[in-house]
Amino acid sequence: MGIQITPSILNSDLSRLADEVARIGSADWVHVDVMDNHFVPNLTFGPTMLESLSRHTDIPLDAHLMIEDPDRTAIEYVEAGCGSVTFHVEAAGAPVRLARELRAHGARAAMALKPATPVEPYEELLPELDMLLVMTVEPGFGGQKFLDLCLPKIRAARQLIEKHGVETWLQVDGGVSLETIERCAEAGADVFVAGSAVYSADDPDRMVQELRAVAEAASSVE
Ligand code: DX5
Ligand code: ZN
Repeated sequence: MGIQITPSILNSDLSRLADEVARIGSADWVHVDVMDNHFVPNLTFGPTMLESLSRHTDIPLDAHLMIEDPDRTAIEYVEAGCGSVTFHVEAAGAPVRLARELRAHGARAAMALKPATPVEPYEELLPELDMLLVMTVEPGFGGQKFLDLCLPKIRAARQLIEKHGVETWLQVDGGVSLETIERCAEAGADVFVAGSAVYSADDPDRMVQELRAVAEAASSVE
């Protein structure tokens, strides 16, 4: 699939969301951070907003669910039009069943790991997943500093993906910028969320293109 850039709209002007999404025409996906004020100390959007946004853009939606009990509501995000739905393993009661349900409903199934959650215990789940998200900040807010301590986990995840011969994409999220994307790409990530780096740029779409160029040059993925 190659390198993909999935800008997060969390730090965009949320009162003009359709216009803000129109400013990132080169993006592969729009990353939408769903927060419930329980799993993380912040509150954002629900499926109704995503359903509305999906009618205003042709770019597919990548929902990142930072919510408790995703087993109960994740399918609502598929029904709202999201092409990819990511749940946190720390919050899911039955991650295998949930991943299978997401796929059965026609979405890409993805699972996220917080910075302190290791990847090795979930090695056998990789064939069930279309994407693994390694968080590179503690989830909850945009604009935080990239955590270098997550780089060995990105490397380990890439090795496990190769060992199992699966097509699982490896996404990183948090503090990704022109300064940090190179080391993520070298470590084996191939899908990059960037929020404040994109929306604090004068030209967000040019920033998407610049991030893609740096990641492609540094990528260790075949
Ligand atoms: C953090 C979110 C991220 C965030 C990224 O909990 O999951 O998607 O919006 O924003 P930056 O790129 O500013 O760290
Ligand atoms: Zn996110």
